[in-house]
Amino acid sequence: MSAPQINAAVLDGIGRTPRYGTFPAPVAGAGEAVVTVGAAALKPSDRLMADGVHYAPTAFPQVAGLDGVGRLADGSRVAFFAPQRPYGGMAEQALVRDGLWFPVPDGVDDVTAAALLNPGGAAWKTVIWEGQLTAGQTVLVLGATGTSGRIATQLAGRHGARVVAAGRDQRVLDALAARGAGAVIRVDRPRDELAAAIAAEGPYDLIVDYLWGPPAEAVFAALMHAGGRGPRRTRYILVGMAAGEAASLPAMTLRKAPVELIGSGNGRPVPVADAAAAYADLLRRAAADEIALDVEAVPLAQVERTWTRATADRRVVFVP
Ligand SMILES: NC(=O)c1ccc[n+]([C@@H]2O[C@H](COP(=O)([O-])OP(=O)(O)OC[C@H]3O[C@@H](n4cnc5c(N)ncnc54)[C@H](OP(=O)(O)O)[C@@H]3O)[C@@H](O)[C@H]2O)c1
Repeated sequence: MSAPQINAAVLDGIGRTPRYGTFPAPVAGAGEAVVTVGAAALKPSDRLMADGVHYAPTAFPQVAGLDGVGRLADGSRVAFFAPQRPYGGMAEQALVRDGLWFPVPDGVDDVTAAALLNPGGAAWKTVIWEGQLTAGQTVLVLGATGTSGRIATQLAGRHGARVVAAGRDQRVLDALAARGAGAVIRVDRPRDELAAAIAAEGPYDLIVDYLWGPPAEAVFAALMHAGGRGPRRTRYILVGMAAGEAASLPAMTLRKAPVELIGSGNGRPVPVADAAAAYADLLRRAAADEIALDVEAVPLAQVERTWTRATADRRVVFVP
């Protein structure tokens, strides 16, 4: 008798586009559980994994997808992350190490829960846990129009901060202004002009950067020219690199401005219990329309053509 198979987004090698195909069904060993997947979001990190930039697999075939939402054998609904290789989230079933999941409360559907998992966690981690943002402070979100930036902008506003939202997409910037952002800044403009616009809205207690690259260089210039304006130390948290992997940081920025530069990622893990509580809070806020996102549910069978199309204006979530 042939082994049971599942439908999955199968990655055949670094740099390849995942294809919809069959894969042997997972079998849970000691300390593992099989999750029946309900939804799995397509995130920048999934594409970076397939391109070999980070979390790169070394053996193929491999199922794509670094997280997802589904049900354990006892019927409980969970959001899981870091599935056991070669299994991934973008499949009918995933294999997950015990404890590497959060409960998903009622009140949100699987697609919304999957859409919020990675960008919501990263937003909470940078704004609240690492950023220590408090009411009355000012935060600059660089890359505010992406899914992660939208959540960070709205979350920071809900915590009583003044939020300066910077990004390229005017439609999303307008929507963020309508939802309480104190100022919006277009980043697609000459560096000196962008630096002046950023400086004019400061000083900042916190900068959350999803872009790096040229927009970050404009922020460095703004910080340097602002110098010690205001009594405050600025925490600069780098989370992403959507605008470039490199940015030139002049020594004088760090010498003139009271900046604390922090890199956020897997190297600074959050205790699972704290992350689970934050996730539940984000889901509650999404259900109450305190945090809004553009989400598109797509059948997993369409993974190949969806993978290569631009999706930065919304979060695509695959449904197996
Ligand atoms: N745990 C973590 O460490 C973590 C978690 C989440 C995200 N991230 C990282 O954060 C970044 C953003 O993630 P996301 O979830 O928000 O992705 P997303 O939803 O795909 O959004 C990407 C954003 O980047 C903007 N962008 C792309 N190229 C740009 C450029 N050259 N100049 C200005 N803006 C540009 C896009 O603007 P347009 O809409 O105008 O194209 C869009 O707003 C990624 O690098 C991701 O890997 C890290």
